[in-house]
Amino acid sequence: MTNKRKTLLSGVKPTGKPHIGNYFGAMKQFVDLQGDYGRTLIFIADYHALNNVQNREEMNNNIYEIALDYLAIGLDPKNVTIFKQSDIPQHSELAVILNSITTMSYLMRAHAYKDAQARNKEISVGTFDYPMLMAADILMYDADVVPVGQDQKQHIEITRDIAEKFNRIFGETFKIPEPLILENVATVPGTDGKKMSKSYNNTIGLFAEDEEIEKAVMSIVTDSKAPGDTKDPEKDNIFALHKLFSKEQLSDLEKRYKEGGISYKESKEILIENIKKIIKPLREKRKELEKDKEYVLDILREGGDEMRARAEKKMQEVRDKIGTKLYE
Ligand code: TYM
Repeated sequence: MTNKRKTLLSGVKPTGKPHIGNYFGAMKQFVDLQGDYGRTLIFIADYHALNNVQNREEMNNNIYEIALDYLAIGLDPKNVTIFKQSDIPQHSELAVILNSITTMSYLMRAHAYKDAQARNKEISVGTFDYPMLMAADILMYDADVVPVGQDQKQHIEITRDIAEKFNRIFGETFKIPEPLILENVATVPGTDGKKMSKSYNNTIGLFAEDEEIEKAVMSIVTDSKAPGDTKDPEKDNIFALHKLFSKEQLSDLEKRYKEGGISYKESKEILIENIKKIIKPLREKRKELEKDKEYVLDILREGGDEMRARAEKKMQEVRDKIGTKLYE
């Protein structure tokens, strides 16, 4: 089947400013692939974010901001339907149905749940049930391909399992989706070398101002080798980011690392310049878009209307399959 007959779907949680891990791991794929597929659906996972963001103004603002971010990185509403999850109550309805065919012990194996448990004993039911809502997001639109970072791989596997289970019990209803994870950006490292993540405080903001970029890069953790020492690029946190931002200079940088011809300070300075070059146009486009809030909200409103109609059609099929539908 050519991609033109396939559906690509993905989403981001509106939990605050996106970072370059979100961008390279997922959001850039949304932009690069838009137009390649028959349908590209990119949404804002606001009910997923509700597990973390429990403040009216903050939620309101975060949703709008992510919509701006999507447009600023280059998603084109002509190619992509952009919408927010909470505009389609059918997602929650489907999650309830999927809950009924899923066991607690199965969901207890989810990494995200285990991590939350390791950090915090009080976990919301929404956090525990997160994979079911995510499965509903994906299965609702018969998505074929779901571009995500490595940390979401297990959620796609759970989605596949649950779709197969539903199809087995009630008959063929849902398509089995495939994750799309690019190897070299599956886990973008943060300034400390661990996975870049807001919860680790090691991020570089996707729309960061120049001074923020400088500060973040200068804080990248290195070993204590002197400028003239030979260095192993594969063990250096700065070099890991050069791979994303300094493609043209990469072989030269690698040589200088190995020969001992570059200090970490110089390496950081080169990285800062290269990050600025990529971020500046995105930041400027975002500032332009900020001038017309109604335009951004209209895109969400229209996307919501379109997807609600599609979701209702799918849910009629689902209700029919499970036997709750008695009349038109
Ligand atoms: P979220 O909002 O946490 O992250 C958005 C995307 O960014 C990726 N990502 C990374 N990729 C590489 N390196 C990193 N350091 C890094 N940090 C984050 C994530 O893998 C993700 O693709 N559960 C999803 C949101 C969601 C969703 C869905 C996605 C809800 N329903 C349905 C796809 C389909 C999430 O928490 O993303």
